[in-house]
Formats: sequence, structure tokens, C-alpha cells
Amino acid sequence: MSATFKAFVVDKKEAGFTAAFKDITQTDLPPGEVLIKVAYSSVNYKDGLASIPEGKIVRNYPFVPGIDLAGVVVESSEAGFKPGDEVIVTSYALGVSHFGGFSEYARVKAEWVVPLPSGLTLKEAMALGTAGFTAALAVHKLVYNGLTPQHGPVLITGATGGLGSIAISILKNLGYTVAASTGQQSEHDYLKALGADDILPREETSAESNRPLDKDRWAGCVDAVGGATLAYLLRTTSYGGSIASCGNTGGVNVNTTVFPFILRGINLLGIDSANCPMALRRTIWEHLASDYKPKHLLDLVGHEAPFEELPQALAAILKGGVRGRTIIKIAAL
Ligand SMILES: NC(=O)c1ccc[n+]([C@@H]2O[C@H](COP(=O)([O-])OP(=O)(O)OC[C@H]3O[C@@H](n4cnc5c(N)ncnc54)[C@H](OP(=O)(O)O)[C@@H]3O)[C@@H](O)[C@H]2O)c1
Repeated sequence: MSATFKAFVVDKKEAGFTAAFKDITQTDLPPGEVLIKVAYSSVNYKDGLASIPEGKIVRNYPFVPGIDLAGVVVESSEAGFKPGDEVIVTSYALGVSHFGGFSEYARVKAEWVVPLPSGLTLKEAMALGTAGFTAALAVHKLVYNGLTPQHGPVLITGATGGLGSIAISILKNLGYTVAASTGQQSEHDYLKALGADDILPREETSAESNRPLDKDRWAGCVDAVGGATLAYLLRTTSYGGSIASCGNTGGVNVNTTVFPFILRGINLLGIDSANCPMALRRTIWEHLASDYKPKHLLDLVGHEAPFEELPQALAAILKGGVRGRTIIKIAAL
């Protein structure tokens, strides 16, 4: 196919940095076994960083960002996939060092491709995207480490963001009592509609303290914020509880002591979506299509924007304050 198609291309030259829609062809795409017509992508914080010169995400220019895509296989040299298959691709090098989802066509490695599970549409898969996948991986690990609804409330930080919103919904589905921490007073009704039983102000969950331990409150935590918030969670998680550390919107340095670990037996669980092994990845997507599937995925959490509005959506996630997830409609199938 020599016809051109539309892609959002970032470039860095001596003349400066550009981020703009361009017409490209299949010969511009990187090698891979599977060619996909992209129906939807989504906007993650990492994509915002990839769209600015100081973002430190993109390694080589010119480049097509987009760490999430869902679409239909056009060609595959790998027997596991055939034209017409509906698929999801997230993680690995996608949108970081391999052209990503902000393009009407993408060519990717077969080992990165997940068949769309029954129970999800392509649009729903992108309402979830990397943020939803990471929230689900965090919940899966908390449960694997012994968390049950009987142990007590679970606290979600960065609650109105994509990861936080979906974590609330999943835990509510599974019967947990959920507390949500947010910096946004205006979004309490949204968090309650998702299933939050209790809402804490961000000031409380990011307060610094010299005390090694505070009153124990949480059986488990999903932390999208890091920094002083993760230190707070370590001080306040109950005996034997677990914290899934997922993000760093509030900072990367954590001021803590060994006491939460040696006096309360706290588990600090690291969550990485990018290199999650494929067998576990498929298990997580199956959960997202069934028992974990958020009840309000398209009516509350995900909002669709056309491809043309991608630059504004990228700027918005960098500015902060975006509720839930932005789905980008790339092309009609
Ligand atoms: N480990 C992984 O594999 C993985 C995968 C995906 C994402 N992540 C990371 O997880 C984090 C959340 O991702 P996301 O997609 O949910 O991002 P997002 O939609 O931008 O949400 C982040 C939320 O964090 C809160 N927040 C923002 N700035 C803050 C600050 N200065 N201090 C405290 N809270 C702040 C806000 O929630 P409130 O306004 O409600 O407080 C915001 O909505 C990011 O750091 C992202 O890079 C990690």
C-alpha cells in the first residue's frame, strides 16, 4: 500500500521541536509482523510527555507517539493473527521507541499483540488503556498478596485520574470498601458515582510527618501519586496490608523508615505495566473484560475525542485536572 495516511508526528531538529499531523506511508512504519488499522488510541501522561521537547520519553526523531492502540489486523506474517482480528497493543516499546497508536496504521511485533477479549469493544479497551491495565494489575497483585474485602478499606490516591478512577471501579465490583484521595473538591460526586465510600483531601494524604507510624487505617492501597503520599500510606497501612505503588504524579522521593515493614509487616508491591509478561497480561485483560470491568466505563470514566483534538488532549493531561480517560478516535474501520 503506497497510499498516505494520517499520523501525529513529533520531530526534533536544529530548527526546533515540532508536533503535528503528517501524511505518512507504510514504508515509514517500523518493522513488525502485524499491521493494524488503528480504530482508537488514548491519552496517558506519558503521551503528554512524548509530545513536548523536554519530555524525555522519545528516544529517536521523527517519531509517532501513543502508548495504547486498539484496532483490526490488516496483515500478519505470524500465524497467531489473521486479517480481521480485533486486537489491543499497549506497553513494551510502543509509543516510546517504536511508532505508536497516534496513527491510522501501526506495524508492531506479534509478541506485543493481545487478542481483544470477548466482553470488551475496541473503544472500551481504549477507555481502559495502559492506565486501566495498570489499575487492574495493581488490584490483582493486592489480592494475590492476601487482600480481601473483610480486611478493611482500600485507599486509592490520585483518584480522579485514569488509573485511580478505574481502580475504584474494579475494587467496588469486587466488594471492597473504597476510600479515594483527591485534590479536586469539585469531583466528589464523580468519585461517589464510581463507588468511593469515603473521600479524603489530598492535603491529608500528602502531609509530611516525622512519625514513623500513624494510626493504622488501610487494608490496602493503590497509589498513583508516590512521593509524600506513598510515605503517608506506609505510615497508615494496617498490619500485614499491601500498597501497590504505581505512579509518581506527586514526586519520586519517598521519606520513610523501616518500621512499617518490621513492625506492621507491610508489603510494598511494585507495579510495572510495560514489561508485564504476556501470560499475566492476557489474564489481566480477561479480568478487565469480565469481573473487573468498570460499570461506568463509557458513561463516566472514558470520554471520546476526535483525532484532530489530540494536541489539546495531550496539553490537558500535562496541565493536570483531566477526569478519567480520554479515548482518541483514530479512524473508522
Ligand atoms: N507503573 C506503571 O506501569 C504505570 C502505568 C500507567 C501509569 N503510571 C503512572 O501512574 C500515575 C497516574 O497515571 P494516570 O494515567 O492515572 O494519570 P492522570 O490521569 O494524569 O492522573 C493522575 C492523578 O494524580 C493526581 N495528581 C496530579 N498531580 C498531583 C500532585 N502534584 N500531587 C498529588 N496528586 C496529584 C490527580 O488526581 P486528583 O486530582 O484526584 O488528586 C491526577 O488526576 C502517573 O504517574 C503515571 O505515569 C504508571
